[in-house]
Amino acid sequence: MVGSSSQALIAKRLEGKVAIITGGASGIGKSTVRLFVQHGAKVIIADVQDELGLSLCRELNQDESVSYVHCDVTSDTDVKNVVDVAISKYGKLDIMYNNAGIPGQVNQTIVEADNENFKRVFEVNVYGAFLGAKHAAKVMIPAKKGVILFTSSVASENSGESPHSYTVSKHAVVGLMKNLCVELGQYGIRVNCIAPCAVATPLLRNTLGMEKDVVEKAICEAAVLKGVVPGTEDMAEAALYLASDESKYVSGLNLMVDGGYSTTNPSFSIVLRNLLS
Ligand SMILES: NC(=O)c1ccc[n+]([C@@H]2O[C@H](COP(=O)([O-])OP(=O)(O)OC[C@H]3O[C@@H](n4cnc5c(N)ncnc54)[C@H](O)[C@@H]3O)[C@@H](O)[C@H]2O)c1
Repeated sequence: MVGSSSQALIAKRLEGKVAIITGGASGIGKSTVRLFVQHGAKVIIADVQDELGLSLCRELNQDESVSYVHCDVTSDTDVKNVVDVAISKYGKLDIMYNNAGIPGQVNQTIVEADNENFKRVFEVNVYGAFLGAKHAAKVMIPAKKGVILFTSSVASENSGESPHSYTVSKHAVVGLMKNLCVELGQYGIRVNCIAPCAVATPLLRNTLGMEKDVVEKAICEAAVLKGVVPGTEDMAEAALYLASDESKYVSGLNLMVDGGYSTTNPSFSIVLRNLLS
């Protein structure tokens, strides 16, 4: 009883808003779908994992707030289609969250780097984000409002810990976000990034070939901020803030959600500690 009345007291921060979330079938995107729906948004999941996307819809769909559209973000036709679905179904698009991404192959030195891998990482992480922004802008400009979000990464600030292709792709996403912030500000459209730290999603677990608890233990040991295991819901909360009117004067921000990880480089202290122990 207490739970349900306190639930009712939580303000619905996205009431009446329409959102598309790419990569919404898994990980950070999936948590964001849940949170946006909880806050009153109508959400379209755009992903290539049809089974996962449809099962999330079934789970959340008491009032038909969520739908799934198969959308490969590297296909101009698919991305245009998902924006068209938002317009035909709801008459508008308030939030375009370009979150889909891939890590690509890891542990590649520049000399050994696979060229096709580099192109593929760019195709999904950068070209996919570009297409999402482009088709969203086409409908947001006449409406003179809207929010475009991207998932960048701590790799957009910290160098040397992710593969070249991935790091460069996330720097490019931040560059795109900043350029769009300037171009689209005149239409009242805000553009921002969420920059997650390592989170034990399928993306990271599969990349490392490790179980969730092992990945989380490593993340917590490396963390600056102790006492918290960073989760997809923390990234979703940041997206909620940037999508909602509470951030109505925030644009051009690459919001680090990393517990301060990117502010420091503890390598020297670690070497010293190891020498002294
Ligand atoms: N997990 C981390 O540690 C971490 C850290 C920093 C940034 N990120 C970024 O967060 C975003 C979400 O990743 P996640 O960790 O939730 O991974 P995830 O693998 O759980 O989710 C990514 C989703 O993107 C979808 N996707 C991939 N390629 C696609 C395509 N071509 N078209 C449409 N959808 C596609 C996948 O099907 C999947 O559902 C990515 O951009 C990733 O780079 C993740």
